[in-house]
Amino acid sequence: MIAEALEWLATPASSLARQSGLLAGQIAIRHRAARCRRLWQPHLQATRAYITAQVAAISPRPQQVIVLGSGHLNDVDLQALLDHADHVVLVDIVHPLEVRWKAFRAGGRIELIEADISGSLASALAGGRAIHPVDEPLKQRILSADCVVSVNILSQLPIGAHDLWTRSGCSETEIDQLSRTIIKGHLDLLVQARHAILITDQVARLRGPDESGATITGSWQDLLFGFPLVQGEEEWIWTIASATERGDGYEEERKVVAIRLATRLGTPKSA
Ligand SMILES: C[S@@+](CC[C@H](N)C(=O)[O-])C[C@H]1O[C@@H](n2cnc3c(N)ncnc32)[C@H](O)[C@@H]1O
Repeated sequence: MIAEALEWLATPASSLARQSGLLAGQIAIRHRAARCRRLWQPHLQATRAYITAQVAAISPRPQQVIVLGSGHLNDVDLQALLDHADHVVLVDIVHPLEVRWKAFRAGGRIELIEADISGSLASALAGGRAIHPVDEPLKQRILSADCVVSVNILSQLPIGAHDLWTRSGCSETEIDQLSRTIIKGHLDLLVQARHAILITDQVARLRGPDESGATITGSWQDLLFGFPLVQGEEEWIWTIASATERGDGYEEERKVVAIRLATRLGTPKSA
């Protein structure tokens, strides 16, 4: 806890990131990733390998690759991206200190952009419910890049505003609708890019003992507010939390899909 508090103070971050809780959330991910290193390894490795293979296959060599949701880069092989592209742009609401250090040492080949990719935080912090498209300069960067990677961020995008909306009296139905708007906005943006790669968890389930002690597996629960993606080019199960990590006796699994986006998106169950 003390380490996390010091990290919160030491990390340069916008008031949006601090007040929305996303800075604290990102710091928590670092510590969780360390505790769950063995469990997360197959997921992190699969994500890294998929991104690297897709970027390496782009011809001619990409001048610019943009990574949305770069965070701690646990799931991105930064060196491989630098091997296969001239310039790498990392976008997140906060860039951790170690990523800032890597960018500083990369001689201008890594650029960091701090942005709210959900477009919801400023309004939610002010008690509103507006959702804006990403800022125009960032949108233009995304549209002109040779490749855009959305890395394990899609299901997270509504989370920053979720508690703020709850506190301002939003009903669960309204929050679901707002969350769906955020998800749709992100997917609409990605499909406009020249090459877009989407890696996201899309459903979650729990596994643990019932009253008799037998192990039961729950049904998959949607994480994308009604946006069923078609089958990914690659799919895998991410055991995101052991029973010990969750503290309630249940292990949590997520199904992750990795796809190149063109016309591969499903349509929402309800608009
Ligand atoms: C689950 S992590 C993705 C994993 C990340 N690539 C890593 O290895 O740490 C989600 C990332 O999305 C970022 N994020 C969440 N909501 C965001 C938002 N509204 N705008 C920008 N970044 C956001 C978080 O800061 C975090 O770094």
